[in-house]
Amino acid sequence: CGIVGYLGKKEAYPILINGLRRLEYRGYDSAGVALMEGDDLVVRKKEGKVKELEGMSSEETFKSIIGIGHTRWATHGAPNDANAHPHLSNSGNLALIHNGIIENYGALKEDLKHRGYSFKSDTDTEVFVNFIEDIKTSENLSLEDALRVALSKVVGAYAIAIISKENPNKLVAARKGSPLVIGLGKDEFFVASDATPIIEHTNEVIYLKDEEIAVMENGEYSIKDAKDIPQTPYIQTLEMELEAIEKSGHDHFMHKEIFEQPISIADCMRGRLNAEKGELTLGGIRNYAKALENAERIIIIACGTSWHAGLVAEYVFEDLCRIPVEVEYASEFRYRNPVIKEGDIVIAISQSGETADTLAAIELAKSKGAIVLGVVNTVGSSISRVSHEGAYLHAGPEIGVASTKAFTAQLTVLYMIALKAAFNKGTIAENRFREHLRELSLIPAKVEKALKTNDKIEEISDLFKNASNFLYLGRGYNFPVALEGALKLKEISYIHAEGYPAAEMKHGPIALIDENMPVVVIATRDSSYDKVVSNIQEVKARKGVVIAIVTEGDSLIPGMADFTIEVPATHESLMPLVSVIPLQLLSYHIAVMRGANVDQPRNLAKSVTVE
Ligand code: G6P
Repeated sequence: CGIVGYLGKKEAYPILINGLRRLEYRGYDSAGVALMEGDDLVVRKKEGKVKELEGMSSEETFKSIIGIGHTRWATHGAPNDANAHPHLSNSGNLALIHNGIIENYGALKEDLKHRGYSFKSDTDTEVFVNFIEDIKTSENLSLEDALRVALSKVVGAYAIAIISKENPNKLVAARKGSPLVIGLGKDEFFVASDATPIIEHTNEVIYLKDEEIAVMENGEYSIKDAKDIPQTPYIQTLEMELEAIEKSGHDHFMHKEIFEQPISIADCMRGRLNAEKGELTLGGIRNYAKALENAERIIIIACGTSWHAGLVAEYVFEDLCRIPVEVEYASEFRYRNPVIKEGDIVIAISQSGETADTLAAIELAKSKGAIVLGVVNTVGSSISRVSHEGAYLHAGPEIGVASTKAFTAQLTVLYMIALKAAFNKGTIAENRFREHLRELSLIPAKVEKALKTNDKIEEISDLFKNASNFLYLGRGYNFPVALEGALKLKEISYIHAEGYPAAEMKHGPIALIDENMPVVVIATRDSSYDKVVSNIQEVKARKGVVIAIVTEGDSLIPGMADFTIEVPATHESLMPLVSVIPLQLLSYHIAVMRGANVDQPRNLAKSVTVE
């Protein structure tokens, strides 16, 4: 979900709507705002996207200089008008927006019902706002004090913003487990789930810490912890450019982000890698560099696309560093009593740095003595803060819900971490180290070339846009790429797709193959090339339609496959950076042709801050 709030001298409504549009990638089931219009606390909310909300309110004029807004990714209760935020308390005095889950809301709701409260929605948020109101009125407390008491009694994760009729110049916000940023403008304050709605107004921000409560009132602000002790916040200056969060002439953010990859990968390496001098520096991993080199085991935890980057990293770390690696879905890891020993290295990969399952898995690993290295894109995010050390991606904001440039940036950073550790450890010799650095430095140009396959892929997409199933096959370093290709297609075009290790096909998926089944095979020249060629023949023998991703100049596969797409040659461990490009393009074009909402696919959200 996305949260935005404003308190200042300007009209709040347009600021909130604009902010919600920027935050929409975090959730888009419903949207709403609460404003102080004269003496009234007015709420407008609607199922659907922010534009539906705007449409509904288009005849109205709002004068309020304070307000809160929300765009929702449904957890409790279906996405409908009633369940949309903000939620009002029974008396109409408080309006609350909330990101996260209040786990004990059931018990609180029962209790409140006995005390005469009634509920219009199925949400935990409506329970929460009435719980605050109940404490406020029965104990005669200020809004922030009532909130503090309420928060001490709720279980769960939250980022909230609240306004009240009684104090029309006060905006209160709090967080625990879900991100919240406060923007400090000139005589104005902003509150948001991330910096994207704030950046066009001010670059001075405070990232609220867990269990802190911020009160903004009459041009002043204060931040206190759960025990009511004033905190001195760290004011950070954001370096993000507004352009980085706009489409800049592209039809979709996803298109922009796919085509940005030569630059984003180069940005990842900038100041870190110097191929000519044979230098590689990762400033973020210093104190624990030795611990990584000496680790007996590395555990990689992540979700979604980041998990696929972890699978590639498993192969890279084992090959270069000779350290055993396990790759785990964060959601599985955290609930299965994993064996973690002191000194184990956990690498947590996350674009947003806010994924709730990954965050919880990190806390678990830390509590058992593991050292956590974060590989994160969003500067200042929760995961970057709870990790012992780490390396940022520096890929710039990723807005399209389906991850593209973050994936290639993750691969680049993980590769650099592995390479550095391997060199220091002595598991690779200097000449091999230098050769890898050289090859890595050539990747942006090779990705640029791989993007030139765009037109051909568009033609192929047209032929397959109505398929109902796709199979993606790859081996070795390209196996996770097959998984990622299938995930991209599923996410944005809603075509069922499965990724499989090519050799495993014969143990099941081969039963699906017939003349209607497009099979995308990543068959670049590497150590398993001959085996993959055999797998292509197995598909062809069953009349499957093969779309093969091959290395430039391949003369064998074009004779067997129905379609071939050429990508430049590189070292096999770096091939995922190049071979994933045509798969991103394929999913993009198919989704566009099917009329799907590429940047905001149904049911998904960019950062999943609930478990
Ligand atoms: C969501 C997004 C995916 C992403 C995953 C993990 O499901 O839609 O694109 O891969 O979360 O997110 P993270 O921010 O932790 O990389």
